[in-house]
Amino acid sequence: VVGPRQSINLLHLRPFTLHSNHYHRGHSTNRVEYRAAATITSERERARTVAAYYNQPAVEAAAKKKSVRLTPSAILYHGRSEDEATILRSAQYLQKEMPVRVAKRIIAFRDLPFIVGCNPIILGVHELYLRAFNILNNFPAINTKEDEVSYSQKLSELLEDHQDVVTQLASGFRECRRHIHNEELVARFLDKTLTSRLGIRMLVQHHLSLRENKPNYVGIINVGMKLKEVIERSCQFVSRVASHKYGRVPLLKLSGHVNAVFPYIELPLDYILPEILKNAVRATVESHSEIEVMHLPPIHITIASNEIDFIIRISDRGGGIPHHLTKRALEYNFTTANDGATSSPPAFSGTSSPEGVFSNMMEAVNPNPVGGPMHGFGFGLPTSRAYAEYMGGSLEVQAMQGIGTDVYLRLKHINSPGASFSSFRI
Ligand code: ADP
Ligand code: COI
Repeated sequence: VVGPRQSINLLHLRPFTLHSNHYHRGHSTNRVEYRAAATITSERERARTVAAYYNQPAVEAAAKKKSVRLTPSAILYHGRSEDEATILRSAQYLQKEMPVRVAKRIIAFRDLPFIVGCNPIILGVHELYLRAFNILNNFPAINTKEDEVSYSQKLSELLEDHQDVVTQLASGFRECRRHIHNEELVARFLDKTLTSRLGIRMLVQHHLSLRENKPNYVGIINVGMKLKEVIERSCQFVSRVASHKYGRVPLLKLSGHVNAVFPYIELPLDYILPEILKNAVRATVESHSEIEVMHLPPIHITIASNEIDFIIRISDRGGGIPHHLTKRALEYNFTTANDGATSSPPAFSGTSSPEGVFSNMMEAVNPNPVGGPMHGFGFGLPTSRAYAEYMGGSLEVQAMQGIGTDVYLRLKHINSPGASFSSFRI
């Protein structure tokens, strides 16, 4: 039986490179003997690696348990007193909940088609989750403040270790595109994996933020979130990136309910908004020639907030999305980022260079709290839509071919009198 320690050690092994590594590392003068020894070692290691994937009874047991999801309104009203007892209880809840959620992710990796699951990058993420499971599942019971402190330390390390999971998945799936016969199955895997991950990260961030006791926040919930400020933050970021990349940026104009203030979680907005704005800016710049720099049409951002939900519409005049591509724009790994023109045929990332229009810059300055850079991977729209739906909302893209694109992001308020009491669970 492969125990947790072994599977942690296996993290950096790539099963498909084991053989070649062993052949090239030694200094034996006796080639035959060396080869024989190398073969035995590598076979033993391969057997251990393989066992690490399917000999995990603890994962299976945990994955069968039901996940206990929290409603933000419950968090808001029950988690207000950030005293030691609340924080200890919060850590104890996570200690029960995290292995269940992480185990369900591992099972999903196992269920991928063989050739996809074997991709070294995807396998690397699978290993990352196995490692996280073993760390979390073997953590001793949390009874004291000291226990809680060391558990929280582990959690923040894990957040950091998993920082690039979205980018890794984006590049892994791009690599094995040609082996994917059932697009629907992969899209379902990614929707589920990415949204569960968002939920896991929100829970962990919530716990860690509770300890910080920031004024105006209950954990990750900003009790008086000024939507305008959140949008402006994304606008500034995208403008900075675009100005570096293109040397010109369209104006981003905000109107509507610009004074809207309500409790909400910034984390998903800080992911979704830059993705949509980046697309609008790119389309605007690329559909207008250099001499039109003074006349780049502005991007209009309109906010509406009502009793039930809030809506953000982002309208650009970047020419729209050609009819034959409108559906595909929301597919994972669909991008036109490499051919530099939205009207060109689709450049599926499986056959094109990894350099998206924004990729280099984004890697340098990306403040993305949910994942690393993922531009030019064709992950922005589908991931944003999945996140919006996970948060009880929607993301719709309306193209006016020849003119521009309107994107509508609708999200339910955490606790609206007009809606059912809990609009979503994390
Ligand atoms: P990426 O930005 O990495 O290409 P996305 O999923 O964000 O990935 O977008 C997928 C594709 O949809 C883009 O490459 C582009 O062709 C098209 N698209 C998205 N938003 C717009 C827009 N506002 N105007 C024109 N085309 C767009
Ligand atoms: C992720 O970010 O992929 C996670 O699931 C984080 C968790 C292991 C702390």
